[in-house]
Amino acid sequence: MAEHNFEAVLEDVIEWRRHFHQFPELSYEEVNTSQFVYDTLTSFGNIEVTRPTKTSVMGRLVGSEAGQVLAMRADMDALPIHEETELPYASKNPGVMHACGHDAHTAMLLGAAKLLSQKQLTGEVRFIFQHAEELFPGGAKEMVEAGVMEGVDKVIGLHVFSMIPEGKIAIAYGPFTANSDVFDIEIIGKGGHSSEPHETIDPIAIGAQVVSNIQQIVARNINPADKVVVSITEFHGGTAKNIIPDTIKIGGGVRSFNQEVREEVSQRIGQIVKGITEAHNATYVYDYVFGYGSVNNNHQVTAEIEELITEELGSDYILETPPMMGGEDFSAFSNEVPGCFIGIGAAFTQEHEKDRNFPHHHPKFSIDEKSLENGLRILAKAPFKLL
Ligand code: NI
Repeated sequence: MAEHNFEAVLEDVIEWRRHFHQFPELSYEEVNTSQFVYDTLTSFGNIEVTRPTKTSVMGRLVGSEAGQVLAMRADMDALPIHEETELPYASKNPGVMHACGHDAHTAMLLGAAKLLSQKQLTGEVRFIFQHAEELFPGGAKEMVEAGVMEGVDKVIGLHVFSMIPEGKIAIAYGPFTANSDVFDIEIIGKGGHSSEPHETIDPIAIGAQVVSNIQQIVARNINPADKVVVSITEFHGGTAKNIIPDTIKIGGGVRSFNQEVREEVSQRIGQIVKGITEAHNATYVYDYVFGYGSVNNNHQVTAEIEELITEELGSDYILETPPMMGGEDFSAFSNEVPGCFIGIGAAFTQEHEKDRNFPHHHPKFSIDEKSLENGLRILAKAPFKLL
């Protein structure tokens, strides 16, 4: 295995990450970020750089000998959050912040591309810089449709995690992230005066029954061995104490790990809404949106990644984790070919820095930059292990 000069490139990675952090861009609007990535990749030489979609970038590094193709993916978009970290390199775009660490992903993959561009390779490495992970339908699906996975044999990706300590790498065999779906229900009754309820069809009373019956799905319909969450997070209706409204709206989210369960939940919600509204002479509109699919790590690729982490960083870095309920559109890539998605621990571990740990999507979200080296080492060595 060819040795890399990590120290020199690590300085670039930190500088790039801080640059992206200062100039975050929202999903589908990654104009300057993708241009920066395009120009930087081009400057390495040896890498064929293209734009599969308007704000995404793909780099192809083709080795001297034919072989398998490994795709490595980083996402590039930021969130509509106003940063409150007071870091010297805090966001300069008011109301927009890299509060999920995608700045780190982009910088680490650029660093790996720089190191690999100076090496002799067998096969091909494809660097996928994806737009719009944070906003459904997501950039991954668009990039797959644009053909970035054609000819690819394996795909890997990573995410920094502020809830996992720096020095640990989270890996999971099988499901890692959940199917992430949402639904909307509108119950259409007949409004009127609160003193004459018999003249109305009260959508609030009906909606309350819908909400409580939906709780039965997980409790009474789904096999307890299947992990699933159904949460009602919105209930809107009414304008005054003495008016029964015409309609109310209910919304929520569903997380699951298998396709059948996901379809069953969507059908059960529909049956409950239909049955209860019919019983009370109301009508309804029901919309269930199948969001990002679950990331399901391939056993062989995950075993190779675990071995690589052990060799490169040490076995004490390995943190086998249960599936997480979060969603990730990396699944659009890993549904095409065997893949593995890992979590890079990025929480501050020093006692005096622990007050800098905040959850993802929080205005004070921050990562320990020491995590960048861990991710860089894995990405830069992966082609030698996986190809
Ligand atoms: Ni993210």
